[in-house]
Parts: sequence; structure tokens; C-alpha cells
Amino acid sequence: MIVCVCKSVSDRTIRSSIADGIDSFDELQFELGVASCCGKCEESVRDVMLQSGVCASRCGVVERHQQVQSVAEVVQVTFYERKAA
Ligand code: FES
Repeated sequence: MIVCVCKSVSDRTIRSSIADGIDSFDELQFELGVASCCGKCEESVRDVMLQSGVCASRCGVVERHQQVQSVAEVVQVTFYERKAA
């Protein structure tokens, strides 16, 4: 599947690059050109990196998931506060 339309980069190419030793988003961007044109593929590239199990901290997805969890916790607290009222 093509992940980066602008540079015609597939998930297979990304996985192959990761297998060859690339372990950060910046390196992928430099080597393959992903997310360097319109940038719409950045999240998909990071997801492929996460699925490849290479970059728990370096692809940036973990931080985003933690932010979403924090927001969910805030929403949950608000929900319970409303129930208690
Ligand atoms: S889709 Fe990857 S830079 Fe545009």
C-alpha cells in the first residue's frame, strides 16, 4: 500500500528501510522523502514505524497516544463529575 503519495513510498519500502537499520522518523524522511512534500502522510508513516516495533519512542506516536489518553482521562473525570452532580 502506498503510504506517501507524493513520493510514491509504500509501507513495504518503509518496513524494508527499517529492517536495514533506519530507526527514526527523521532518517526515514531524509532517506525516502516521506512527509517532505504535502506532509499528509506523516501520521501514517509513524504508524507503520510503530507497527514495525522499531521506534517506541523515536517515531513520536507513543507521545501522541499518551496525549490522547490524557485527554480521555480528563473527559472521563468530567463525565463522573457530571454524574455526581
Ligand atoms: S503524501 Fe507524503 S508528502 Fe505528501
